[in-house]
Amino acid sequence: MLLAASTQRTIGLVILAIVFIGGLVYIYFNIRSARDEIGSEIELAANRRPYMDDNELETKRLDLALGSSLVLLTITAITLPLYWLGEPGRHEGRDIDTDRIFTNRGEDIYVNGAQCVSCHGSEGSGGSVSTAITTEDGEFVAQVSWKAPALNTLLSRFTEDEVIHTLNFGRNGVMPAWGAGGGGPLTDQQLEEVVYYIRSIQIDGDAIAAEVDSGVRAGVEAKLRAESDADWAVELRDASDAKDATAWEVTLASRDVFGFDCVERAADSRCIADNDAAKALLEAETAHADALEAAVEAWLADVDAVRDSAYDAALAADASLDNEGNEEEWRFAALDLLSTPGAVEGQDLYLDYGEILFTNTAAAGTHSCARCHTYGWSFDATGPYSLELHGTDEPILDAYTQGGGYFGPNLRGGSTLEQFESATSHADFISKGQTIGATYGRGGSGGNGQMPGFGPNTDSSPVGPTIGNDDEFSYPATLTEAQIDAIVAFERNL
Ligand code: HEC
Ligand code: HEC
Repeated sequence: MLLAASTQRTIGLVILAIVFIGGLVYIYFNIRSARDEIGSEIELAANRRPYMDDNELETKRLDLALGSSLVLLTITAITLPLYWLGEPGRHEGRDIDTDRIFTNRGEDIYVNGAQCVSCHGSEGSGGSVSTAITTEDGEFVAQVSWKAPALNTLLSRFTEDEVIHTLNFGRNGVMPAWGAGGGGPLTDQQLEEVVYYIRSIQIDGDAIAAEVDSGVRAGVEAKLRAESDADWAVELRDASDAKDATAWEVTLASRDVFGFDCVERAADSRCIADNDAAKALLEAETAHADALEAAVEAWLADVDAVRDSAYDAALAADASLDNEGNEEEWRFAALDLLSTPGAVEGQDLYLDYGEILFTNTAAAGTHSCARCHTYGWSFDATGPYSLELHGTDEPILDAYTQGGGYFGPNLRGGSTLEQFESATSHADFISKGQTIGATYGRGGSGGNGQMPGFGPNTDSSPVGPTIGNDDEFSYPATLTEAQIDAIVAFERNL
């Protein structure tokens, strides 16, 4: 396209040059050969010369005039359609230019102007911000590290209009208001430029799936390490407790926030202190890494088996479900069973899997539900704090009220059963999210589209000038249908 545009440009310039030079030549000769105009008198005045006679005018002169008009007409006839033919290319070229310019400016705002990068990480990979938690009366509670979601998957969750809303008004006081609408420093066009940049950093479906999966595995690992009765798990817990005990002593003794000097770094860059207990834990972790991985695989396979048994049970109740075209019905019949207390053996395990997805820690918790629906989860409120950094060494919460509501509503006590009469409509909502101004469920009123959609997302009215205005953008799903189902079952039992 660019090549085409440049040859067209060259041809245009050459034509322009020919016309210009031709014009000059014409004017030159015209002036030189010009004769004074004759008057209207029949008899020439004595001081006038006679003009050319008809013979002269109607042969050479006329031929010349007609001939040159024909040449000009031919040029026009050829160049006008050519120009018209090039129009879409020119349009596209301009769109590509605008796209590039907006994206570059957006990147500049992301990195320098607004420094989104300091909280959301480089290329939007997720990060955190240090912020003060206060009581309702404004009293200081603790200085915490608050997860800032990844933006390189943002457009799978939200449409660009919804993103603009968040950018305008910020979120929960920890994400500043950027747009003029919310009293922030950026103009509407600058917000659009940031969105163009965000468009350019979205990762693909495989990368998202790998991210979600790594979070799930971390969750299962943590659960097994905390709860499994296997010898390796008991050994790991003992080693971990021993390390915590000594690390704590070192912390108190040195008053050093992170405990101890690192004499070396483990492969995963954790600190190995000059501390026998820490070394023993690392050794135990290395020794049991295979056992842990195998246990995670087995646990996930058990979850699959529970789901399969629900599919089987649904089919036993209605043999038509495996007819062609009934995949949806089969899925939702199974989901109904998986959501109904006691309907399938192993349901507890399945709900645990739902909870692990609900609290997925990958990419700064981006793919979790807890970051919006569980108070304190975004700043690890049940974790230990260090007195020096945080002003308290007490956890802020003893335990989370999972799904108890924060930025998003309370999902507990059967409230989702009331809102969504079937698991089907519930799953559909999680997949699509809430759309600006649209109602959902039984009484969900039209908000600002702040509940993300976790299924595939199509944005049919992207912001900004250029291609965006008449094109659709499609983004891959964050969660698979099977993952959404597990979360739905978990929520319907909260
Ligand atoms: C001071 C730190 C900070 C800065 C700077 C910042 N953000 Fe945020 N942002 C956050 C935090 C924290 C959240 C999550 C808030 C919450 O958990 O309620 C967030 C949330 C968001 C969200 C919602 C995403 C989602 O999936 O829920 C978007 C979009 C966003 N930020 C974009 C931006 C952009 C673009 C910029 C730069 C113009 C920016 N942020 C600058 C801290 C920051
Ligand atoms: C970025 C914040 C955010 C995240 C992340 C989020 N939600 Fe929400 N959710 C909301 C908001 C806000 C609403 C309310 C929407 C409204 O009223 O317009 C909501 C509403 C809901 C509702 C409807 C509740 C009711 O009774 O009306 C359900 C169910 C729900 N979310 C489930 C989930 C699940 C499951 C996940 C994770 C897969 C999730 N949410 C992740 C913000 C979020």
